[in-house]
Amino acid sequence: MRLGVVVWAEGVTVKFRIAEDSVVERGMLVKVVDRGRRYVLKVVDFKPESLLTPAEVAIISSKADRGEKPQLRDRDLRLYDTAIATIVAQIDEDGEVHGPSSVPALFSPVEELGEEDLKMLRLHTGDIPIGRVRFGHSAVDVEVALDGAKTIPHHILVVGGTGAGKSNFGRVLAASILHLRGRYSLVVFDCESEYLLGSKPGEMGLAHLPFSEEYLFLVSARVPRPGRLRVELPELGEERSIPAYPLKMDVSRLKPGDFALTGEFSSPQEELLWLAYKQFGEGWVEALLSGDARTVYSRLGRMAGVNTISVTKRKIRYLTGDGSVFCRDCGYDLAAAVLSMVLKGRVVLIETPFATEGEEKLLATVVAERVFRAYERMRKELPEKWSQLPPVLIMVEEAHRYLGSQALGGKGEVRENVFSIIAKRGRKYKVGGLYITQMPSELMDAVVRQALTKVILSLPTRPDYLAVMNHSPYLDEAEAEIKTLDRGEAIVVSPPSGFRLAVSAKIYQYEEYALRLIQEEKRLLATREVSRTPEYADA
Ligand SMILES: Nc1ncnc2c1ncn2[C@@H]1O[C@H](COP(=O)(O)OP(=O)(O)OP(=O)(O)O)[C@@H](O)[C@H]1O
Ligand SMILES: [Mg+2]
Repeated sequence: MRLGVVVWAEGVTVKFRIAEDSVVERGMLVKVVDRGRRYVLKVVDFKPESLLTPAEVAIISSKADRGEKPQLRDRDLRLYDTAIATIVAQIDEDGEVHGPSSVPALFSPVEELGEEDLKMLRLHTGDIPIGRVRFGHSAVDVEVALDGAKTIPHHILVVGGTGAGKSNFGRVLAASILHLRGRYSLVVFDCESEYLLGSKPGEMGLAHLPFSEEYLFLVSARVPRPGRLRVELPELGEERSIPAYPLKMDVSRLKPGDFALTGEFSSPQEELLWLAYKQFGEGWVEALLSGDARTVYSRLGRMAGVNTISVTKRKIRYLTGDGSVFCRDCGYDLAAAVLSMVLKGRVVLIETPFATEGEEKLLATVVAERVFRAYERMRKELPEKWSQLPPVLIMVEEAHRYLGSQALGGKGEVRENVFSIIAKRGRKYKVGGLYITQMPSELMDAVVRQALTKVILSLPTRPDYLAVMNHSPYLDEAEAEIKTLDRGEAIVVSPPSGFRLAVSAKIYQYEEYALRLIQEEKRLLATREVSRTPEYADA
């Protein structure tokens, strides 16, 4: 369908007159065909063109105000709407897609972009579907999918205000990864318990997907010992049995590095940790926690100051909590269990609804550190084996708590923590971070810059979306669109997935997406059953 006519083209900006009766929406993709080339344009704004004099405007508007129909001679010559669009891609006659190297001629017709044209942009060819392409507020039938192998090591940043759909996005992504049955690993820290079953009755979670029985690994206080958790799913009239491990880690399994990489300790305090470890071996955390500062001081041969000892004790107590997660003599090591599952391409869900902020921080640090170190060591020592490992993505909600410039020591000393290390160096080892936050302006610049894939959901605060826009390609003209995003609508930037534009997307609503995957997974399981039955098996 024809939408208008080009009236100006300069640089990568095209202005076109909007044809009478056609509807053009912000974020919409349109095309212009000129001399065998197809230009794909994204509508970013609108502007009326008027040749009316101020007196005419005054007279006509006053009439309109009184409810009279304004009469205007030669109206279509003197007043019309235009849309401002950016050229996002140029498709040459041979079908090759690249960045714009020319502009369409003036007065070329502007047309609706068909599904066939849209497919040439290859927004649907990745293996991790997240939603559909969106024109204005309506979704079209072309999927938006990230390319996991390239996207994961380059990190993903998800930003959005309260209720914008961040956790829904997290569940959709986790479901897509689970559905790939081992191609990638994912570690999710879920402090609200919303990923397993959804956050309220009627919602769904990862447990609803049949493959969860094989590819999900749950770490949760819901189970007292390693085994399987049976969950009933009244929505489906089914039940599942999911591999699970208790939310427990014996303090004797903790190393000084686990604490240091929380970023909570100064250098003298970190030295003390190592000193205690050397002195007391496995029982070092116990030893630091049990005696008072003076006793520890003398047991350590007066090698550390009493002050340092008491501050360090306080921090360790804050991080290890009351012993319900970091237990004594329980023998469990959830970090080792998680690592073994990550190496096998599992989606690991760690539920921490009752953990304190300190426990959460230590837990996330220990797990992320073990995974990162294992991949790093493997790449250095056994590159062959490393190349077989699934890329792993570590997802943290409230990322500003871990990666804020404040969390990393404020303006003075910058203390590294495991997430800043992964943000900087994870790429080399196939370890990526997925950072979810409402406050990107609080994140370290480096993290925003290093996360090459960005999912921008509705975000009302200007400093926050500017922080993201300043560090991403294709977003120069996106401000107006960001302001009009509704719940679940997003702008997706992902050069690693081969996207050459800021893609307007509607993220799948989790429950709808899950129902589709459940059907597909059931079909796959059924064919697997058939091929296992002896009379159908290959000879
Ligand atoms: N893509 C979507 N399509 C339809 N509905 C959605 C979508 N994303 C989110 N919602 C709905 O919006 C509500 C809030 O979503 P969600 O919990 O994901 O937001 P959030 O950004 O994580 O919020 P919070 O800041 O409270 O953590 C949910 O009820 C969810 O069903
Ligand atoms: Mg949320």
